[in-house]
Amino acid sequence: MALPQTPVPTPPPGLPDPATLAQLANAFFRSTPGQQAAPDSPTAPANAAASAPKLVPHAQAPNGLPDHALTAAPGVDGRLGGHALGIPEVPRAVPTAHPPVTAPAPAGGYYFLEATPKPTTTPVPAAGFYFLDLPAHEPRSATGPAFERTSFDVHAVRRDFPILQERVNGRPLVWFDNAATTHKPQAVIDRIAHFYRHENSNIHRAAHELAARATDAYEEARETVRRFIGAASADEVVFVRGTTEAINLVAKTWGVQHVGAGDEIVVSHLEHHANIVPWQQLAAQVGARLRVIPVDDTGQVILEAYERLLGPRTRLVAVTQVSNALGTVVPVQAIVALAKARGITTLVDGAQSVSHLRVDVRTLGADFFVFSGHKVFGPTGIGALYGRREVLDNMPPWQGGGNMIADVTFEKTVYHGPPTRFEAGTGNIADAVGLGAALRYVERIGIEAIGAYEHALLDYATEQLRPIPGVRLVGTAAHKASVLSFVLAGHSTEEVGRALNAEGIAVRTGHHCAQPILRRFGLEATVRPSLAFYNTTEEVDRFIAVVRRLAGQGPR
Ligand code: ALA
Repeated sequence: MALPQTPVPTPPPGLPDPATLAQLANAFFRSTPGQQAAPDSPTAPANAAASAPKLVPHAQAPNGLPDHALTAAPGVDGRLGGHALGIPEVPRAVPTAHPPVTAPAPAGGYYFLEATPKPTTTPVPAAGFYFLDLPAHEPRSATGPAFERTSFDVHAVRRDFPILQERVNGRPLVWFDNAATTHKPQAVIDRIAHFYRHENSNIHRAAHELAARATDAYEEARETVRRFIGAASADEVVFVRGTTEAINLVAKTWGVQHVGAGDEIVVSHLEHHANIVPWQQLAAQVGARLRVIPVDDTGQVILEAYERLLGPRTRLVAVTQVSNALGTVVPVQAIVALAKARGITTLVDGAQSVSHLRVDVRTLGADFFVFSGHKVFGPTGIGALYGRREVLDNMPPWQGGGNMIADVTFEKTVYHGPPTRFEAGTGNIADAVGLGAALRYVERIGIEAIGAYEHALLDYATEQLRPIPGVRLVGTAAHKASVLSFVLAGHSTEEVGRALNAEGIAVRTGHHCAQPILRRFGLEATVRPSLAFYNTTEEVDRFIAVVRRLAGQGPR
């Protein structure tokens, strides 16, 4: 029996027909927060994306200033951050060996109102360290020259991170556990929500509209990672769960292929367990051995000793760029160059560096560079493995399954090329998209501005902490990022952590997944405050007050 047909209503004169409406809707939902509708929909309202995500609950400005008066210019809601506003994102400058500082110089201190970065003339020091050298005599306060020079409004940034308004134990949260994980700006939260509301699908482009949206979003995120780390091609970027998975992937593919009995793998004494254990497992499997670059008493690697370790059996040098336990900024460029000159493959662990300093993998020259999204204001469970194209091309797959194949018969499988060869199964699509949003957020603020501000804050905190009786700083290298590891005489690290937590201050205590380097300093644990660009001198002062009280200084 034929079913009765529902008549398609004719639209009233002047209104678009259903097909046009559907086309408009598709174009609208394909455009992400912060973007205009797709160009294939010429009649889509130009401000549609900007007006969609409105009135999300938002944080009060911690500087006591009325939020709307300052940030709600017509059509612009500062609470949502630039990405959600339809404001064009600032493309990153093409990196050079020593790029000029291109941090936006925001009018009124709001970085997201600035459409075009204004180059400043402040040079990046020739030594290649990300921070500005601040003369020792300069006052260290949030209003002193060291901070003014950073052209960076920490209070505007803080309003982009809703969780910073949490209270813990009745006190405003102080998040000094950034080396463990970072918080997420509203732009990232919005982007992930947008994915699940409007784009959610597996990535098999041709199947249907949502598949096309999800695939585009995922590949756009890959392109953002490429730009952020300066890779030559998006095909050199493999999405993984994080740094640990990336290193394991390399050990279990490239490693098994290239490291054999009697060969050597060089790591530094500073490594996180993630850059020790996979190499140890590989060494045990194939009969190779691990060699360790020693560090001096400040926690910096000894380059001369490193050079002596390199020999005819060295197959790989795998080093961290920033130590998670001490904060040492390692001269990875020199380390890579010495290895490359001998034809040795190199891997740089960027888990603790990408949120603090400019990374350009082509300048660095390493064969592999790995990092985790959650340490750079992105989601957990997503990260990236960069591999030089010719190295990835010659690597066998790691896991087998869907996505990574070109053709399967019961006799044989033909694999895709990189990066999909290394992305078997359904990946973490939404969080890859969220990672892209996080990196674009960092790009909009400017990594040099972030690094300069953090360095001034680290100096300020170090100068307050060092003189407290009983404090021993662990890791005093000349070049450091973010981390202040210490122990306090007469108090266990747990006691210090508990006292800080009682005041709403989050730090990590323990071995920080880096037992060898703590043991190098005769310790099993430290207290480890780790800073990010949304931390303030007021927060440092609250932290210092607790340590002083424990040390017997100040009110009990
Ligand atoms: N690697 C993380 C840390 O340093 C977990 O805390």
